[in-house]
Amino acid sequence: METKKKTVGRPKKAKAAPKEQRHGWNSEPEVGVFLASLIRLTGAQTVLEIGVFEGYTAKDIIDVLPKGGLYIGIDIKDYVKPENKAAFIKASKEGKVIEQVIENSLTYLPKLPKNHFDIVFIDSQHTFDHVIKEFKMCESLITKKGIIAFHDSIHVEDVKKVVDYAAHWNYETININTPEGRGIALVTKK
Ligand SMILES: C[S@@+](CC[C@H](N)C(=O)[O-])C[C@H]1O[C@@H](n2cnc3c(N)ncnc32)[C@H](O)[C@@H]1O
Repeated sequence: METKKKTVGRPKKAKAAPKEQRHGWNSEPEVGVFLASLIRLTGAQTVLEIGVFEGYTAKDIIDVLPKGGLYIGIDIKDYVKPENKAAFIKASKEGKVIEQVIENSLTYLPKLPKNHFDIVFIDSQHTFDHVIKEFKMCESLITKKGIIAFHDSIHVEDVKKVVDYAAHWNYETININTPEGRGIALVTKK
């Protein structure tokens, strides 16, 4: 029997900065690979990232989006590295819809369509007051089976608290470790 095998993630020669050179704001490369796998597994077509920074995770997400798929990345500042900008442009030419928004998430999220995103990745400012606001705004943006992912959900207590809050309010949650002990949590409506 013929089986279809797809490899997800950065090819060996890809430019994931090694740990010692990577800015602490970048997620571990495995987080991008994990999100890309999740997109493939669930067939997600619409993805929102809050806190893009240099765009490494964004690139992993965009690479696996299907033609016609939508990626919106929000950040208060444009830090995206040229190689990742190039990936955004290439993806646009391939028929994916890529939008980089430079704005505060708290003013931009209310402008987005409701019930629209299959996956939202929350990874901006990590204080409880901020993350809880983003979470509450994103609740209405995700589709029925949509997933909200949080990075730093183990080592940042404030992020973990928001995940615990979601668990208390009728969300299925998993919080798993990542190679640097920072964690990634997934929450979805029960
Ligand atoms: C941890 S970095 C994001 C890392 C990226 N998601 C990744 O996985 O590589 C956090 C980013 O959030 C941005 N940020 C902080 N507060 C924000 C806000 N209120 N709205 C939008 N972006 C914000 C910062 O400028 C920074 O680039």
